Amino acid sequence: MSNTAILEINGEKHEFPLIVGTENEIGIDIKTLRGVTGGVTTIDPGYKNTGSCESAITFLNGEEGVLRYRGYAIEDLAEKADFLEVAYLLIFGNLPTQEQLDKFHADIKKESVVDDDIKKILDAFPKTAHPMGVLASLTSALTAFNPSSVNVDSEDDMYNAIVKILGKFPVLVAWTMRKKQGLPLNYGSEDLGYVENILKMMFEKPNKPYEQNDILINALDKLLILHADHEQNCSTSTVRIVGSSHAGLFASLSAGISALWGPLHGGANQAVLEMLEGIKEDGGDTKKYMAKAKDKEDPFRLMGFGHRVYKNFDPRAKIIKKAADEVLGDLGVEDPVLDIAKGLAEEALSDGYFVKRKLYPNVDFYSGIIYRAMGIPVEMFTVMFALGRLPGWIAQWREMRLRKEPIGRPRQIYIGENHREFKSINER
Ligand code: SDX
Repeated sequence: MSNTAILEINGEKHEFPLIVGTENEIGIDIKTLRGVTGGVTTIDPGYKNTGSCESAITFLNGEEGVLRYRGYAIEDLAEKADFLEVAYLLIFGNLPTQEQLDKFHADIKKESVVDDDIKKILDAFPKTAHPMGVLASLTSALTAFNPSSVNVDSEDDMYNAIVKILGKFPVLVAWTMRKKQGLPLNYGSEDLGYVENILKMMFEKPNKPYEQNDILINALDKLLILHADHEQNCSTSTVRIVGSSHAGLFASLSAGISALWGPLHGGANQAVLEMLEGIKEDGGDTKKYMAKAKDKEDPFRLMGFGHRVYKNFDPRAKIIKKAADEVLGDLGVEDPVLDIAKGLAEEALSDGYFVKRKLYPNVDFYSGIIYRAMGIPVEMFTVMFALGRLPGWIAQWREMRLRKEPIGRPRQIYIGENHREFKSINER
């Protein structure tokens, strides 16, 4: 196989090297394109065919429905690891030894308190504020309380920033929910695990101690692992491009939270539950909604279906669908929208429109059913996605800075007015 690509423009041939990754993906290296062609650029709305970086963190094969974090299969990690192990793996590149994991967790616990003045910012929000907007603001506010910028070339500096955000973010997540529910803000406990503390901070009532429930601990741990990273998706690309200007880690994460909020991205898990509820209220007529999803005149889309990369079942959706059955069974919860979801999926998987476009359930299709069974309000679903995605965002931001990637600044093709002379207002 040739190791170059040849582009012919106006009769002139230009050769560009091919980059081949460790999974034999091929990229055309066009770093010199504009220089050798006198300014010719590429156009690729949504970057459907454009790689922004070389990365060693996560590998996806969309055609085969493969997802691996640092080479480990998502199925193995979801089954055999816990979330903090996976966070360590994504960020530092290898699964931790017990000693490394214990130190990591201990260092995170030391940072699991936030400046009390954060509560004054939280108080300023109305209860009606969407939790994703609150979380993005509080995360950005962390910069004000931790002004020292991260020296990415200093391992200690970077490590301290990482354990700081991993310690404080779950507090902000829990407080965002408690604020909406009018419940007092609380903290975790030194003697509890990472996920146990999240549950305690979210659900502990002021008048009785919170009783941990292994079903909820295991379900949340698995969901956080499944959401932990997904290579160059919209919110991760946002974290990278904001960080490429050398903006701080917390500011970059805040931008990522805002990107994740959109219903085409992480906001889909909330949109899926609202869609399923709507179908249930409308008598459970899934065929009507399938028709709407296929009707180009109708803006309705089957939320939780389709994916930019997966043209096969999203492996995370498979795992979550199985977990939904287990968790609802273990909790003794009957949720009619799970049956509606399964009915929709079965219909779509045998419908020509969806089959032709390779539209399968994605990570967001079933996750909300578990969150709801756990007692998490629907407006908090995307916040839970952000909680899972945090280590992936950190890992990708750190890789981008360690590789000294240039500031992200795409080009364009101008299609506006050509030069025209200015006219004074009385001439117009
Ligand atoms: C996430 O990128 C990631 O990795 C994201 C993520 C992660 O972990 O970070 O995996 C998380 O964001 C999952 C996706 C959650 N979003 C949704 O479930 C929203 C519903 N899905 C769609 O909006 C859509 O599928 C996207 C946004 C996910 C992907 O859109 P693309 O790749 O830009 O594809 P497209 O919009 O060009 O669609 C191709 C065709 C179109 O039809 P034609 O013009 O070819 O006739 O498929 C149709 C679309 O109309 N289509 C759908 C559809 N999704 C695509 N039709 C009905 N319902 C849908 N859900």
